[in-house]
Amino acid sequence: MKMRTFGKLGIEVSAFGVGCMRFPMIEKNGERVVDEDRAIAMLRTAIDNGVTYVDTAYGYLGGQSEMVVGKALQDGYRDKVNLATKLPCWLVKESADMEKLLQTQLGRLQTDHLDFYLLHALNAERWEQMKAFGAREFLTELKKKGVIKYACFSFHDSFDAFKKILDEYDWDMCQVQYNFMDVENQAGTKGVEYAGSKGIPVVIMEGLLGGKLANAPENVQALYDSYPVKRSPVEWAFRWLCDHPQVGTVLSGVSDMEQVRDNLRIFDTVEAGCMSDPEKALIDQVRAAYKSRILVDCTGCEYCMPCPKNVNIPKTFSIWNNASLYGGLEKGNADYKRMVGEGNDPAACVECGKCMSNCPQHIKIPDMLKKARAALE
Ligand SMILES: NC(=O)c1ccc[n+]([C@@H]2O[C@H](COP(=O)([O-])OP(=O)(O)OC[C@H]3O[C@@H](n4cnc5c(N)ncnc54)[C@H](OP(=O)(O)O)[C@@H]3O)[C@@H](O)[C@H]2O)c1
Repeated sequence: MKMRTFGKLGIEVSAFGVGCMRFPMIEKNGERVVDEDRAIAMLRTAIDNGVTYVDTAYGYLGGQSEMVVGKALQDGYRDKVNLATKLPCWLVKESADMEKLLQTQLGRLQTDHLDFYLLHALNAERWEQMKAFGAREFLTELKKKGVIKYACFSFHDSFDAFKKILDEYDWDMCQVQYNFMDVENQAGTKGVEYAGSKGIPVVIMEGLLGGKLANAPENVQALYDSYPVKRSPVEWAFRWLCDHPQVGTVLSGVSDMEQVRDNLRIFDTVEAGCMSDPEKALIDQVRAAYKSRILVDCTGCEYCMPCPKNVNIPKTFSIWNNASLYGGLEKGNADYKRMVGEGNDPAACVECGKCMSNCPQHIKIPDMLKKARAALE
């Protein structure tokens, strides 16, 4: 496992950080729950093979993620990793809520301290609210008490909002959505470079655009195949990210053991400055080829859910995008029909717009649902 230096913190952290938002799920007593045995085995395999960074959050998998991570980190595993979790800012209604939420998280994670504590999913508006609640003073105090080592934030908004947040507190780390498709989206390349100029390490989320970059459509695969060195699409995506010296850990939300093992292999081969000029040119071509196909920039984070009308928004977009990416409209129609049959009918949308206020990608969801229906119904 390649290690990377975390900017001004000077610590060494594994290039691969396990994102605990996409653990395998099973049906138990009529409920969807994390397949604990498999999730724990995945996390421990990653740690046994050099991973030293684990990322979770209060809300992942309906709160189950923190619980499962807490269990996985028993038997001496806690001391082997940097544990990161996130304060759900949207649940903070008064200053005292921050401490209450933190205590719940420490309990779930079965630990008395966190290495990285992030204000979750900051945007311009949420940052103003959190400042008013005294979030900066709260984080500083937690550091003084040793309850957290590093004060951080994760982010979904424009570069301008990112810069403002970065400049208004002495942050130890920031976490942004970044991949070769998002160079001009959200914090983007400008944001990564700005954080780097301040010595603030950048942790990457959605490096595969929520998995969308893992399976190349024909026109993209043809470009990869034309390159003399053969690499999988996942390998190209992670290689491109790790080329950036500002990047600390790249989180990957692995969903099975095979992906854990594949990523362990990949992150053993990539480091800052690893991309040659022809490799960079290839990724520029790949980006253009993708851009011609993606219909809606949904990453499947599910922040838009639940929908009061039970529309499965991420699934609808995923079916629509996949149909476009793979030219498989027939399969798209079948998947759509099955989803409607399961009681998640996009036609039920009443355009209340509740979903849009939470979407990190700022997708005009009701409009896009209509377009998806027109293509898939
Ligand atoms: N703070 C925030 O606002 C925020 C938002 C989003 C994510 N995050 C964090 O960042 C982490 C990473 O984001 P992400 O999960 O969206 O990352 P990602 O790497 O873009 O996507 C993860 C998906 O990529 C696919 N994948 C991963 N490794 C693979 C491999 N070796 N081969 C083939 N497919 C592979 C899997 O898709 P399939 O399941 O389809 O196979 C997996 O579910 C999350 O887990 C979470 O911890 C934070």
